[in-house]
Amino acid sequence: MENRTPQGNARLVVASNRGPIEVRAVADGQDEFDRGGGGLVTGMLGALHGRDDVVWVCAALNDAERSLARELENNRVSDVPAAAELLDGVRVRMLPIDATTFRQAYNGIANSALWYLSHMLYDTARSPVFDIGWRRQWGAYRRYNQSFAESLDAECAEGASVMIQDYHLDLAPAQLRARRPDLRIAHFTHTPWSPSDYFPILPDDVGSELLTGLLGADLLGFHTVRWASAFLDCCRDVLRVPVHYSEGDEPAGGLVTAPDGRSVQVRVFPLGVDVQAMKERSQQRDSLARMRTLQRIVGDRAVITRVDRTELSKNIVRGLLAYREFLRANPNWHNRVVHLAFAYPSRHDLADYRAYTADVKRLADEIDDEFGTDEWTPLKLEVENDYAGSLSGLRLADVLLVNPIRDGMNLVVKEGCVLSERDAIPVLSRQAGAADELGEDAIMINPFDVTATAGAIRLALEMPAVEKRLRAERLRAASQGASPHDWFRAQIDAVSIN
Ligand code: F6P
Repeated sequence: MENRTPQGNARLVVASNRGPIEVRAVADGQDEFDRGGGGLVTGMLGALHGRDDVVWVCAALNDAERSLARELENNRVSDVPAAAELLDGVRVRMLPIDATTFRQAYNGIANSALWYLSHMLYDTARSPVFDIGWRRQWGAYRRYNQSFAESLDAECAEGASVMIQDYHLDLAPAQLRARRPDLRIAHFTHTPWSPSDYFPILPDDVGSELLTGLLGADLLGFHTVRWASAFLDCCRDVLRVPVHYSEGDEPAGGLVTAPDGRSVQVRVFPLGVDVQAMKERSQQRDSLARMRTLQRIVGDRAVITRVDRTELSKNIVRGLLAYREFLRANPNWHNRVVHLAFAYPSRHDLADYRAYTADVKRLADEIDDEFGTDEWTPLKLEVENDYAGSLSGLRLADVLLVNPIRDGMNLVVKEGCVLSERDAIPVLSRQAGAADELGEDAIMINPFDVTATAGAIRLALEMPAVEKRLRAERLRAASQGASPHDWFRAQIDAVSIN
Protein backbone atom coordinates (compact mmCIF):
# COMPACT_ATOMS: atom_id res chain seq x y z
CA MET A 1 0.00 0.00 0.00
CA GLU A 2 1.35 3.40 -0.92
CA ASN A 3 1.16 6.24 1.58
CA ARG A 4 1.06 9.63 -0.10
CA THR A 5 -1.13 12.66 -0.64
CA PRO A 6 -3.76 12.21 -3.37
CA GLN A 7 -3.03 14.17 -6.54
CA GLY A 8 -6.54 14.37 -7.90
CA ASN A 9 -9.44 16.62 -6.97
CA ALA A 10 -12.39 14.53 -8.16
CA ARG A 11 -14.95 13.65 -5.47
CA LEU A 12 -16.84 11.28 -7.76
CA VAL A 13 -15.27 9.14 -10.47
CA VAL A 14 -16.91 6.75 -12.94
CA ALA A 15 -14.94 4.00 -14.68
CA SER A 16 -16.12 1.98 -17.67
CA ASN A 17 -14.62 0.40 -20.74
CA ARG A 18 -16.86 2.28 -23.17
CA GLY A 19 -17.05 5.92 -22.20
CA PRO A 20 -19.55 8.72 -22.65
CA ILE A 21 -17.86 10.06 -25.79
CA GLU A 22 -16.88 8.49 -29.12
CA VAL A 23 -14.16 9.88 -31.35
CA ARG A 24 -14.11 9.46 -35.12
CA ALA A 25 -11.16 10.51 -37.27
CA VAL A 26 -12.46 12.11 -40.48
CA ALA A 27 -10.75 12.77 -43.77
CA ASP A 28 -9.32 16.26 -43.14
CA GLY A 29 -7.53 15.11 -39.97
CA GLN A 30 -10.14 16.67 -37.69
CA ASP A 31 -11.79 14.51 -35.05
CA GLU A 32 -15.56 14.30 -34.75
CA PHE A 33 -17.32 13.47 -31.50
CA ASP A 34 -20.53 11.67 -30.60
CA ARG A 35 -22.13 11.11 -27.25
CA GLY A 36 -21.62 7.40 -26.29
CA GLY A 37 -24.73 5.41 -27.21
CA GLY A 38 -27.62 4.39 -25.03
CA GLY A 39 -29.86 5.47 -22.20
CA LEU A 40 -27.41 4.35 -19.56
CA VAL A 41 -24.76 6.90 -20.54
CA THR A 42 -27.40 9.61 -20.81
CA GLY A 43 -28.82 8.70 -17.41
CA MET A 44 -25.44 8.57 -15.75
CA LEU A 45 -24.39 11.91 -17.26
CA GLY A 46 -27.68 13.32 -16.02
CA ALA A 47 -26.92 12.14 -12.48
CA LEU A 48 -23.51 13.84 -12.63
CA HIS A 49 -24.89 17.05 -14.12
CA GLY A 50 -24.06 20.33 -12.40
CA ARG A 51 -21.03 19.02 -10.48
CA ASP A 52 -17.55 20.28 -11.28
CA ASP A 53 -15.78 17.55 -9.29
CA VAL A 54 -16.56 14.55 -11.49
CA VAL A 55 -14.25 12.57 -13.79
CA TRP A 56 -15.16 9.64 -16.05
CA VAL A 57 -12.29 7.26 -16.85
CA CYS A 58 -12.77 5.07 -19.94
CA ALA A 59 -10.68 3.18 -22.48
CA ALA A 60 -9.74 4.40 -25.95
CA LEU A 61 -11.50 1.85 -28.16
CA ASN A 62 -9.81 2.44 -31.52
CA ASP A 63 -6.78 4.05 -33.14
CA ALA A 64 -8.44 7.46 -33.51
CA GLU A 65 -9.26 7.54 -29.81
CA ARG A 66 -5.83 6.27 -28.82
CA SER A 67 -3.96 8.86 -30.84
CA LEU A 68 -6.14 11.75 -29.65
CA ALA A 69 -5.89 10.65 -26.01
CA ARG A 70 -2.09 10.39 -26.26
CA GLU A 71 -1.84 14.00 -27.49
CA LEU A 72 -3.80 15.47 -24.58
CA GLU A 73 -2.50 16.24 -21.13
CA ASN A 74 -3.86 13.60 -18.71
CA ASN A 75 -5.64 12.05 -21.74
CA ARG A 76 -8.33 14.63 -21.09
CA VAL A 77 -10.54 14.35 -24.20
CA SER A 78 -13.07 16.64 -22.55
CA ASP A 79 -10.56 19.47 -23.01
CA VAL A 80 -11.45 19.47 -26.71
CA PRO A 81 -14.32 22.00 -26.99
CA ALA A 82 -16.34 19.89 -29.45
CA ALA A 83 -16.26 17.00 -26.97
CA ALA A 84 -16.96 19.18 -23.93
CA GLU A 85 -20.22 20.35 -25.55
CA LEU A 86 -21.58 16.80 -25.27
CA LEU A 87 -20.48 16.11 -21.72
CA ASP A 88 -22.46 18.35 -19.34
CA GLY A 89 -19.30 19.48 -17.56
CA VAL A 90 -18.01 15.97 -16.82
CA ARG A 91 -14.25 15.62 -17.37
CA VAL A 92 -13.26 12.52 -19.33
CA ARG A 93 -9.92 10.75 -19.17
CA MET A 94 -9.61 8.27 -22.04
CA LEU A 95 -6.87 5.69 -21.50
CA PRO A 96 -4.72 4.98 -24.57
CA ILE A 97 -3.97 1.39 -23.52
CA ASP A 98 -1.77 -0.18 -26.20
CA ALA A 99 -3.75 -1.89 -28.96
CA THR A 100 -2.56 -5.45 -28.24
CA THR A 101 -3.24 -5.29 -24.52
CA PHE A 102 -6.65 -3.76 -25.22
CA ARG A 103 -7.56 -6.41 -27.79
CA GLN A 104 -6.49 -9.29 -25.55
CA ALA A 105 -8.30 -7.87 -22.52
CA TYR A 106 -11.49 -6.80 -24.34
CA ASN A 107 -11.95 -9.51 -26.96
CA GLY A 108 -9.94 -12.31 -25.38
CA ILE A 109 -11.07 -12.10 -21.78
CA ALA A 110 -14.02 -9.73 -21.28
CA ASN A 111 -16.07 -10.53 -24.41
CA SER A 112 -15.02 -14.16 -24.62
CA ALA A 113 -14.22 -15.83 -21.29
CA LEU A 114 -16.21 -13.58 -18.95
CA TRP A 115 -19.14 -13.00 -21.30
CA TYR A 116 -19.43 -16.70 -22.16
CA LEU A 117 -19.17 -17.63 -18.51
CA SER A 118 -21.83 -15.22 -17.26
CA HIS A 119 -24.21 -16.03 -20.14
CA MET A 120 -23.41 -19.78 -20.03
CA LEU A 121 -22.57 -19.82 -23.75
CA TYR A 122 -19.82 -22.42 -23.78
CA ASP A 123 -20.18 -25.45 -26.00
CA THR A 124 -18.18 -27.40 -23.42
CA ALA A 125 -17.27 -30.35 -25.64
CA ARG A 126 -15.00 -27.93 -27.50
CA SER A 127 -14.47 -24.82 -25.47
CA PRO A 128 -13.09 -23.20 -23.43
CA VAL A 129 -9.43 -24.23 -23.63
CA PHE A 130 -7.33 -22.43 -21.05
CA ASP A 131 -3.80 -22.80 -22.35
CA ILE A 132 -0.64 -20.74 -22.26
CA GLY A 133 -1.95 -18.35 -24.93
CA TRP A 134 -5.05 -17.76 -22.84
CA ARG A 135 -2.87 -17.04 -19.83
CA ARG A 136 -1.17 -14.29 -21.83
CA GLN A 137 -4.59 -12.75 -22.45
CA TRP A 138 -5.38 -12.99 -18.75
CA GLY A 139 -2.13 -11.10 -18.11
CA ALA A 140 -3.37 -8.40 -20.52
CA TYR A 141 -6.70 -8.22 -18.65
CA ARG A 142 -4.77 -7.67 -15.41
CA ARG A 143 -2.69 -4.89 -16.99
CA TYR A 144 -5.76 -3.27 -18.54
CA ASN A 145 -7.45 -3.23 -15.11
CA GLN A 146 -4.23 -1.94 -13.55
CA SER A 147 -4.18 1.02 -15.97
CA PHE A 148 -7.65 1.94 -14.75
CA ALA A 149 -6.61 1.54 -11.10
CA GLU A 150 -3.61 3.85 -11.62
CA SER A 151 -5.67 6.51 -13.39
CA LEU A 152 -8.45 6.34 -10.81
CA ASP A 153 -5.85 6.76 -8.10
CA ALA A 154 -4.48 9.81 -9.94
CA GLU A 155 -7.91 11.42 -10.33
CA CYS A 156 -9.45 10.82 -6.89
CA ALA A 157 -9.44 13.28 -4.02
CA GLU A 158 -9.17 11.89 -0.49
CA GLY A 159 -12.27 9.82 0.36
CA ALA A 160 -13.79 10.12 -3.14
CA SER A 161 -16.46 7.69 -4.40
CA VAL A 162 -15.62 5.53 -7.42
CA MET A 163 -18.34 3.87 -9.52
CA ILE A 164 -16.81 1.03 -11.58
CA GLN A 165 -18.92 -0.54 -14.34
CA ASP A 166 -19.07 -4.11 -15.53
CA TYR A 167 -17.12 -7.25 -16.28
CA HIS A 168 -14.31 -5.51 -18.12
CA LEU A 169 -13.16 -4.15 -14.78
CA ASP A 170 -13.56 -6.98 -12.26
CA LEU A 171 -9.98 -6.73 -10.94
CA ALA A 172 -9.87 -2.94 -10.67
CA PRO A 173 -11.65 -2.67 -7.28
CA ALA A 174 -8.93 -4.63 -5.42
CA GLN A 175 -6.12 -3.07 -7.45
CA LEU A 176 -7.45 0.38 -6.59
CA ARG A 177 -7.99 -0.43 -2.92
CA ALA A 178 -4.37 -1.59 -2.66
CA ARG A 179 -3.33 1.91 -3.74
CA ARG A 180 -6.08 3.92 -2.07
CA PRO A 181 -7.77 2.45 1.00
CA ASP A 182 -9.38 5.84 1.69
CA LEU A 183 -11.76 5.58 -1.30
CA ARG A 184 -15.39 4.40 -1.35
CA ILE A 185 -15.55 1.90 -4.20
CA ALA A 186 -18.68 0.56 -5.91
CA HIS A 187 -18.82 -1.92 -8.79
CA PHE A 188 -21.89 -2.79 -10.86
CA THR A 189 -22.21 -5.96 -12.96
CA HIS A 190 -24.58 -5.42 -15.90
CA THR A 191 -24.50 -9.07 -16.96
CA PRO A 192 -25.89 -12.14 -15.21
CA TRP A 193 -23.60 -13.93 -12.76
CA SER A 194 -22.86 -17.59 -13.41
CA PRO A 195 -24.10 -20.30 -11.05
CA SER A 196 -21.53 -21.59 -8.56
CA ASP A 197 -21.33 -24.98 -10.29
CA TYR A 198 -20.59 -23.32 -13.69
CA PHE A 199 -18.21 -20.61 -12.48
CA PRO A 200 -15.44 -23.18 -11.68
CA ILE A 201 -15.01 -23.69 -15.44
CA LEU A 202 -12.46 -20.89 -14.95
CA PRO A 203 -9.01 -22.03 -13.82
CA ASP A 204 -9.11 -22.16 -10.01
CA ASP A 205 -6.58 -19.38 -9.45
CA VAL A 206 -8.28 -17.12 -12.01
CA GLY A 207 -11.74 -17.68 -10.46
CA SER A 208 -10.36 -16.75 -7.04
CA GLU A 209 -8.54 -13.72 -8.43
CA LEU A 210 -11.72 -12.50 -10.12
CA LEU A 211 -13.87 -12.81 -6.99
CA THR A 212 -11.18 -11.28 -4.80
CA GLY A 213 -10.80 -8.47 -7.35
CA LEU A 214 -14.46 -7.58 -7.05
CA LEU A 215 -14.40 -7.88 -3.27
CA GLY A 216 -11.98 -4.97 -3.25
CA ALA A 217 -15.14 -2.84 -3.52
CA ASP A 218 -17.33 -1.68 -0.64
CA LEU A 219 -20.52 -2.19 -2.64
CA LEU A 220 -21.27 -4.68 -5.43
CA GLY A 221 -24.42 -4.10 -7.50
CA PHE A 222 -26.45 -6.51 -9.65
CA HIS A 223 -29.72 -6.15 -11.57
CA THR A 224 -31.59 -8.98 -9.84
CA VAL A 225 -31.60 -11.08 -6.69
CA ARG A 226 -30.80 -14.10 -8.82
CA TRP A 227 -27.45 -12.71 -10.03
CA ALA A 228 -26.59 -11.31 -6.59
CA SER A 229 -27.30 -14.68 -4.97
CA ALA A 230 -25.21 -16.51 -7.58
CA PHE A 231 -22.31 -14.20 -6.74
CA LEU A 232 -22.75 -14.89 -3.02
CA ASP A 233 -22.82 -18.64 -3.78
CA CYS A 234 -19.51 -18.35 -5.67
CA CYS A 235 -17.89 -16.47 -2.77
CA ARG A 236 -19.10 -19.18 -0.39
CA ASP A 237 -18.17 -22.18 -2.54
CA VAL A 238 -15.06 -20.99 -4.37
CA LEU A 239 -13.41 -18.56 -1.96
CA ARG A 240 -14.91 -20.28 1.10
CA VAL A 241 -15.47 -16.95 2.85
CA PRO A 242 -18.51 -16.24 5.07
CA VAL A 243 -21.57 -14.89 3.27
CA HIS A 244 -24.92 -13.67 4.51
CA TYR A 245 -28.07 -13.71 2.31
CA SER A 246 -30.53 -10.87 3.03
CA GLU A 247 -33.60 -11.70 5.05
CA GLY A 248 -36.71 -9.87 6.15
CA ASP A 249 -36.43 -6.09 5.80
CA GLU A 250 -32.76 -6.06 4.81
CA PRO A 251 -32.03 -4.62 1.35
CA ALA A 252 -32.10 -7.37 -1.29
CA GLY A 253 -28.67 -8.99 -1.75
CA GLY A 254 -26.40 -9.81 1.15
CA LEU A 255 -22.96 -9.43 2.68
CA VAL A 256 -19.61 -11.09 2.06
CA THR A 257 -16.64 -11.12 4.38
CA ALA A 258 -13.73 -10.44 2.01
CA PRO A 259 -10.47 -12.37 2.45
CA ASP A 260 -8.98 -9.26 4.12
CA GLY A 261 -11.80 -9.27 6.70
CA ARG A 262 -13.82 -6.30 5.36
CA SER A 263 -17.55 -6.61 5.01
CA VAL A 264 -18.67 -6.05 1.40
CA GLN A 265 -22.30 -5.19 0.61
CA VAL A 266 -23.98 -7.00 -2.27
CA ARG A 267 -27.10 -5.10 -3.39
CA VAL A 268 -29.77 -5.28 -6.07
CA PHE A 269 -30.43 -2.16 -8.18
CA PRO A 270 -32.79 -2.99 -11.09
CA LEU A 271 -32.42 -0.55 -13.96
CA GLY A 272 -35.46 0.95 -15.71
CA VAL A 273 -35.77 3.09 -18.83
CA ASP A 274 -35.53 6.81 -19.43
CA VAL A 275 -39.11 7.22 -20.58
CA GLN A 276 -39.06 10.89 -21.46
CA ALA A 277 -35.81 10.78 -23.45
CA MET A 278 -36.96 7.73 -25.37
CA LYS A 279 -40.38 9.16 -26.20
CA GLU A 280 -38.82 12.42 -27.35
CA ARG A 281 -36.31 10.55 -29.50
CA SER A 282 -39.07 8.45 -31.07
CA GLN A 283 -40.79 11.65 -32.25
CA GLN A 284 -37.76 13.13 -33.99
CA ARG A 285 -37.75 13.60 -37.74
CA ASP A 286 -35.66 10.49 -38.60
CA SER A 287 -37.80 8.24 -36.38
CA LEU A 288 -40.98 9.57 -37.93
CA ALA A 289 -39.59 8.98 -41.43
CA ARG A 290 -38.70 5.40 -40.50
CA MET A 291 -42.17 5.01 -39.00
CA ARG A 292 -43.76 5.87 -42.34
CA THR A 293 -41.59 3.32 -44.18
CA LEU A 294 -42.40 0.59 -41.68
CA GLN A 295 -46.11 1.40 -41.79
CA ARG A 296 -46.02 0.88 -45.55
CA ILE A 297 -44.49 -2.58 -45.08
CA VAL A 298 -46.82 -3.54 -42.25
CA GLY A 299 -50.12 -2.18 -43.58
CA ASP A 300 -52.95 -3.34 -41.33
CA ARG A 301 -51.14 -6.50 -40.21
CA ALA A 302 -50.11 -7.43 -36.68
CA VAL A 303 -46.47 -6.79 -35.75
CA ILE A 304 -43.93 -8.85 -33.84
CA THR A 305 -40.85 -6.75 -33.02
CA ARG A 306 -37.42 -7.65 -31.69
CA VAL A 307 -34.46 -5.30 -31.18
CA ASP A 308 -31.05 -6.70 -30.29
CA ARG A 309 -27.39 -6.52 -30.96
CA THR A 310 -26.50 -9.56 -33.09
CA GLU A 311 -25.19 -11.19 -29.96
CA LEU A 312 -25.02 -14.90 -29.21
CA SER A 313 -26.81 -14.54 -25.89
CA LYS A 314 -29.79 -12.82 -27.55
CA ASN A 315 -30.87 -16.07 -29.22
CA ILE A 316 -31.94 -14.50 -32.49
CA VAL A 317 -31.63 -17.74 -34.48
CA ARG A 318 -34.06 -19.63 -32.21
CA GLY A 319 -36.35 -16.60 -32.35
CA LEU A 320 -36.46 -16.87 -36.15
CA LEU A 321 -36.92 -20.65 -35.98
CA ALA A 322 -39.87 -20.07 -33.67
CA TYR A 323 -41.41 -17.54 -36.06
CA ARG A 324 -40.99 -20.02 -38.95
CA GLU A 325 -42.60 -22.79 -36.90
CA PHE A 326 -45.44 -20.44 -35.98
CA LEU A 327 -46.07 -19.61 -39.67
CA ARG A 328 -45.91 -23.29 -40.66
CA ALA A 329 -48.37 -24.27 -37.93
CA ASN A 330 -50.76 -21.37 -38.44
CA PRO A 331 -51.56 -20.76 -42.13
CA ASN A 332 -54.48 -18.59 -41.00
CA TRP A 333 -51.86 -16.01 -39.94
CA HIS A 334 -50.25 -15.81 -43.38
CA ASN A 335 -50.40 -12.29 -44.76
CA ARG A 336 -51.75 -11.08 -41.41
CA VAL A 337 -48.49 -10.60 -39.50
CA VAL A 338 -45.03 -9.05 -40.06
CA HIS A 339 -41.94 -9.72 -37.96
CA LEU A 340 -39.68 -6.66 -37.64
CA ALA A 341 -36.28 -7.93 -36.50
CA PHE A 342 -33.61 -5.32 -35.75
CA ALA A 343 -30.31 -7.12 -35.27
CA TYR A 344 -27.47 -4.62 -35.05
CA PRO A 345 -23.82 -5.39 -35.74
CA SER A 346 -21.88 -6.43 -32.66
CA ARG A 347 -18.36 -7.62 -31.85
CA HIS A 348 -17.39 -8.47 -35.40
CA ASP A 349 -13.79 -8.94 -34.27
CA LEU A 350 -14.91 -12.32 -32.90
CA ALA A 351 -15.33 -15.19 -35.39
CA ASP A 352 -18.29 -16.68 -33.48
CA TYR A 353 -20.18 -13.41 -33.91
CA ARG A 354 -19.47 -13.17 -37.64
CA ALA A 355 -20.69 -16.73 -38.10
CA TYR A 356 -23.78 -16.04 -36.00
CA THR A 357 -24.68 -12.98 -38.07
CA ALA A 358 -24.39 -15.12 -41.22
CA ASP A 359 -26.73 -17.72 -39.66
CA VAL A 360 -29.29 -15.01 -38.86
CA LYS A 361 -29.22 -13.67 -42.43
CA ARG A 362 -29.44 -17.14 -43.98
CA LEU A 363 -32.44 -18.12 -41.90
CA ALA A 364 -34.16 -14.82 -42.65
CA ASP A 365 -33.71 -15.49 -46.39
CA GLU A 366 -35.15 -18.97 -45.97
CA ILE A 367 -38.24 -17.59 -44.22
CA ASP A 368 -38.69 -15.00 -46.92
CA ASP A 369 -38.32 -17.67 -49.67
CA GLU A 370 -40.81 -19.97 -47.98
CA PHE A 371 -43.58 -17.49 -47.17
CA GLY A 372 -42.97 -14.15 -48.91
CA THR A 373 -45.35 -13.06 -51.70
CA ASP A 374 -45.71 -9.98 -53.87
CA GLU A 375 -48.12 -8.49 -51.31
CA TRP A 376 -46.58 -9.75 -48.07
CA THR A 377 -43.16 -9.34 -46.46
CA PRO A 378 -43.39 -11.81 -43.57
CA LEU A 379 -40.03 -10.76 -42.09
CA LYS A 380 -38.11 -7.50 -42.27
CA LEU A 381 -34.59 -8.06 -40.95
CA GLU A 382 -32.45 -4.95 -40.37
CA VAL A 383 -28.78 -5.74 -39.74
CA GLU A 384 -27.37 -2.20 -39.85
CA ASN A 385 -27.56 0.27 -36.97
CA ASP A 386 -31.01 1.84 -37.14
CA TYR A 387 -31.91 3.27 -33.75
CA ALA A 388 -34.63 5.51 -35.19
CA GLY A 389 -36.16 2.52 -36.99
CA SER A 390 -36.06 0.34 -33.90
CA LEU A 391 -37.96 2.93 -31.84
CA SER A 392 -40.61 3.01 -34.56
CA GLY A 393 -40.66 -0.80 -34.61
CA LEU A 394 -41.33 -0.79 -30.87
CA ARG A 395 -44.12 1.77 -31.27
CA LEU A 396 -45.78 -0.56 -33.80
CA ALA A 397 -45.36 -3.77 -31.79
CA ASP A 398 -48.29 -6.05 -30.86
CA VAL A 399 -45.81 -8.64 -29.63
CA LEU A 400 -42.26 -8.16 -28.34
CA LEU A 401 -40.05 -11.15 -28.97
CA VAL A 402 -37.38 -11.10 -26.25
CA ASN A 403 -35.92 -14.59 -25.89
CA PRO A 404 -32.33 -14.29 -24.61
CA ILE A 405 -30.45 -17.37 -23.45
CA ARG A 406 -29.48 -15.26 -20.43
CA ASP A 407 -29.49 -11.52 -19.92
CA GLY A 408 -28.46 -9.25 -17.04
CA MET A 409 -31.64 -7.18 -17.38
CA ASN A 410 -32.75 -6.58 -21.03
CA LEU A 411 -33.88 -3.00 -21.32
CA VAL A 412 -35.42 -3.50 -24.75
CA VAL A 413 -38.42 -5.30 -23.33
CA LYS A 414 -39.01 -2.41 -20.95
CA GLU A 415 -38.57 0.11 -23.78
CA GLY A 416 -41.06 -1.86 -25.88
CA CYS A 417 -43.66 -1.96 -23.09
CA VAL A 418 -43.37 1.82 -22.68
CA LEU A 419 -43.29 2.75 -26.38
CA SER A 420 -45.79 0.33 -27.91
CA GLU A 421 -48.97 2.03 -29.08
CA ARG A 422 -50.71 -1.33 -29.51
CA ASP A 423 -50.50 -2.72 -25.95
CA ALA A 424 -47.62 -5.02 -26.81
CA ILE A 425 -47.34 -8.31 -24.97
CA PRO A 426 -43.78 -9.58 -24.47
CA VAL A 427 -42.88 -13.17 -25.25
CA LEU A 428 -40.14 -13.11 -22.66
CA SER A 429 -37.36 -15.50 -21.75
CA ARG A 430 -37.43 -16.61 -18.14
CA GLN A 431 -33.63 -16.19 -18.24
CA ALA A 432 -33.79 -12.40 -18.66
CA GLY A 433 -33.30 -10.25 -15.57
CA ALA A 434 -36.42 -8.31 -16.59
CA ALA A 435 -38.49 -11.46 -15.97
CA ASP A 436 -38.42 -10.60 -12.25
CA GLU A 437 -40.38 -7.41 -12.81
CA LEU A 438 -42.44 -8.28 -15.91
CA GLY A 439 -42.92 -12.04 -15.53
CA GLU A 440 -46.51 -11.93 -14.28
CA ASP A 441 -47.92 -10.18 -17.33
CA ALA A 442 -45.54 -11.26 -20.09
CA ILE A 443 -45.84 -14.70 -21.67
CA MET A 444 -42.83 -16.49 -20.26
CA ILE A 445 -40.79 -18.97 -22.28
CA ASN A 446 -37.89 -21.34 -22.01
CA PRO A 447 -35.54 -19.76 -24.59
CA PHE A 448 -34.32 -23.15 -25.84
CA ASP A 449 -37.84 -24.42 -26.57
CA VAL A 450 -38.61 -23.24 -30.09
CA THR A 451 -42.01 -24.96 -30.22
CA ALA A 452 -43.10 -23.35 -26.95
CA THR A 453 -41.89 -19.98 -28.26
CA ALA A 454 -43.95 -20.45 -31.44
CA GLY A 455 -46.96 -21.27 -29.25
CA ALA A 456 -46.34 -18.18 -27.11
CA ILE A 457 -46.23 -15.99 -30.22
CA ARG A 458 -49.65 -17.28 -31.19
CA LEU A 459 -51.02 -16.82 -27.69
CA ALA A 460 -49.79 -13.22 -27.61
CA LEU A 461 -51.20 -12.44 -31.07
CA GLU A 462 -54.57 -13.94 -30.24
CA MET A 463 -54.96 -12.51 -26.74
CA PRO A 464 -58.33 -10.76 -26.30
CA ALA A 465 -57.99 -6.97 -26.51
CA VAL A 466 -59.31 -6.36 -22.99
CA GLU A 467 -56.79 -8.70 -21.43
CA LYS A 468 -54.01 -7.18 -23.55
CA ARG A 469 -54.94 -3.70 -22.38
CA LEU A 470 -54.91 -4.68 -18.69
CA ARG A 471 -51.62 -6.50 -18.95
CA ALA A 472 -50.01 -3.73 -21.00
CA GLU A 473 -50.96 -1.13 -18.40
CA ARG A 474 -49.27 -3.12 -15.65
CA LEU A 475 -46.26 -3.83 -17.88
CA ARG A 476 -45.86 -0.12 -18.64
CA ALA A 477 -45.90 0.75 -14.97
CA ALA A 478 -43.42 -2.01 -14.06
CA SER A 479 -41.05 -0.99 -16.87
CA GLN A 480 -40.69 2.56 -15.66
CA GLY A 481 -39.11 1.53 -12.29
CA ALA A 482 -35.82 3.27 -11.58
CA SER A 483 -34.76 5.60 -14.40
CA PRO A 484 -31.03 5.38 -15.24
CA HIS A 485 -30.63 8.64 -13.34
CA ASP A 486 -32.32 7.29 -10.16
CA TRP A 487 -30.63 3.92 -10.49
CA PHE A 488 -27.18 5.53 -10.54
CA ARG A 489 -28.03 8.04 -7.81
CA ALA A 490 -29.14 5.23 -5.48
CA GLN A 491 -25.74 3.56 -5.84
CA ILE A 492 -23.83 6.79 -5.28
CA ASP A 493 -25.83 7.31 -2.10
CA ALA A 494 -25.35 3.71 -0.97
CA VAL A 495 -21.58 3.74 -1.40
CA SER A 496 -21.02 7.24 -0.03
CA ILE A 497 -22.85 6.90 3.26
CA ASN A 498 -21.68 3.46 4.31
O1 F6P B 1 -24.88 -6.25 -21.03
C1 F6P B 1 -23.83 -5.60 -20.43
C2 F6P B 1 -23.20 -4.60 -21.36
O2 F6P B 1 -22.22 -3.83 -20.70
C3 F6P B 1 -24.17 -3.66 -22.03
O3 F6P B 1 -24.47 -2.59 -21.20
C4 F6P B 1 -23.46 -3.32 -23.29
O4 F6P B 1 -24.38 -3.14 -24.29
C5 F6P B 1 -22.57 -4.51 -23.53
O5 F6P B 1 -22.54 -5.27 -22.39
C6 F6P B 1 -21.16 -4.14 -23.89
O6 F6P B 1 -21.10 -3.87 -25.22
P1 F6P B 1 -19.80 -3.37 -25.93
O7 F6P B 1 -18.82 -4.49 -25.91
O8 F6P B 1 -20.27 -3.06 -27.29
O9 F6P B 1 -19.32 -2.17 -25.20
